[in-house]
Amino acid sequence: MSQRSIHIKTFGCQMNVYDSDRMGGLLTLGGYLWEPDLRKADVILINTCSIRDKSEHKVLSLLGQLKPLKDENPKKVIGVSGCVGQRLGRSLLQRVPHLDLVFGPDSVDRVKELVDEVVLNGRRVLETKLEEGGRAYSQPTHVPTRPSRPAEYLTIMKGCDHFCTYCIVPFVRGREKSRPIHEILEDVRGFVAGGTKEVTFLGQNINTYGKGTGETLAELIEKTHAIPGLERIRYVTSHPRDLGEDLISQFGKLEKLCPSLHLPFQSGSDRILKAMSRLYTRDEYLLKIEKLRAACPAIALSTDVIVGFPGETDEDFEKTVEVLNRVEFSMAFLFKYSPRPGTRAFALSEEIPEVVKEERLARVQQLSLRQIERENGRLLGTTVQCLVESIDKKGLCYSGRTVHNKLVHVLNSGPSCQGKILDVEVTETNGSNVKGYFAGAPRVVRTA
Ligand code: 5AD
Ligand code: SF4
Repeated sequence: MSQRSIHIKTFGCQMNVYDSDRMGGLLTLGGYLWEPDLRKADVILINTCSIRDKSEHKVLSLLGQLKPLKDENPKKVIGVSGCVGQRLGRSLLQRVPHLDLVFGPDSVDRVKELVDEVVLNGRRVLETKLEEGGRAYSQPTHVPTRPSRPAEYLTIMKGCDHFCTYCIVPFVRGREKSRPIHEILEDVRGFVAGGTKEVTFLGQNINTYGKGTGETLAELIEKTHAIPGLERIRYVTSHPRDLGEDLISQFGKLEKLCPSLHLPFQSGSDRILKAMSRLYTRDEYLLKIEKLRAACPAIALSTDVIVGFPGETDEDFEKTVEVLNRVEFSMAFLFKYSPRPGTRAFALSEEIPEVVKEERLARVQQLSLRQIERENGRLLGTTVQCLVESIDKKGLCYSGRTVHNKLVHVLNSGPSCQGKILDVEVTETNGSNVKGYFAGAPRVVRTA
C-alpha cells in the first residue's frame, strides 16, 4: 500500500498546538507523510477546542465543508480529536455520518493506532476514555520529527482540579496529571540542542504542577534554569489562589525567567468570583499583583476576563473595569460568557442578554486597547531585545517577542535573523503593533 498523507488542523489553545505537534510527529514516524494542504490529505484530523460555544461551531462548520471531499473520495479519512471529540463523543459520530474517527485529549499518544484502525480495517472508531491517575502522556518524551523552533511550547501537565463553574476543561481534560521533571528536562535539552532559546511550559493550572508527586513548579523552573544554552523560560496559565510565594520570589531573581506572567482574574466582583467558584477575592488578587510587582517591578502582566456571567449587574461589571484600570495589564483576553452544558453555571437562570454582553465586551476591549497603545507608546525610541521567531504572513519581515512577551516586527530583518536575540530600536507603534529596526543591517524595508 502506498504511503498515506495526513494533515492536522488545530483549533484552540497552545496545548492543542502542542498536542497536534506530538500527533504529527508520531504519525510521520509511523509512516504517514505530512500534506500541507488540508483538502489534499488522505487523512484529515481536526484537533478541537470546546471552551466556548463559538469554538465548537467552527469545528462543526469545517466538518460540513469537508463532506463533498468525502463524497468524492470515500477512502478519505476524517477525524476529530481534542476537547470537542471528548465532549460530544458518540453523538458527534451519529450527527456527522462522514466522520470516521473521534477521540479525546487522553488518546493523543495513540493517534497512530487509531488512524491505522480506520485506514486498515475501514471501521469507524471512537475512543473517549479519561483515565484517572496515571501519567499525562503514555509516551515519556516528545518525539522530535521536525527542527527545533527558537521558542517552543511544552505541555508539562494535563487537566484541572478546580471546577470553576463556567469551565468545561475539567470535564474534557480530566483531573490534573503531571509529567516527571526528569522527562521534561530531557525534552528541553533536546529542543536546546536543536537551537531553541526559549521554552514556555503549559498547564491548565500550572502552579499546582507535580501535585501528589512531591515535585513542584518552582523546582522545575530552577532545574530548567540550569540548562546551558536556554535563555528564556515562561509558564502559563497561573491561578491566583495557587501562585505561591516560592513562585513569586523567583521573578526578578532567576534571570532566565521572563518578567511576564499571565494571571486571569475573570471578574472584579467578589459576588461573581464566588459564583464562579474562583476561590479568591478581588483584594486577594490585587495583593498577588502587588507582591509580583514588589519582587519584579518591570513585570508585564496579562489576564483573562469574562463579562456577562449569569447575574452580573452593572455594578459587578464596573468592578471588573476598576481592576483593569488599576492594574493596567500589558494584554487582556476578554470573553463573553458562553454557557457550557454540564458545567454548574449552565443551570443558572439569571442569563445576561446578548446585547448587554456585547456592550460590556466592547467597553473592556476599548479600555484594554487604550492601555496597550499607551504602553507601546512608551516603547518608542527605546531598544528592546527580541527573540526573532518567524516571518509574517506576507513574507516581508520577521517578528519576535521581548522578554515582556511583546510582539515586535523587525522591519529590516532577513532569514539570518531567525532564532537570534537582537537589539531592536522601536521606531513605530500603531495600536497594538510595534515595529523597529535592528543595528545589524541597513534600514531598508522589504516590500511585496
Ligand atoms: N465562557 C467564556 N469564557 C470562558 N473561559 C473559560 N470558560 C469560558 C466560558 N464558558 C475563558 C476564561 C479562561 C479562558 C481560557 O477562557 O477566561 O481563563
Ligand atoms: Fe477552567 Fe482554569 Fe478554572 Fe481549571 S482553573 S476550571 S482550566 S478556568
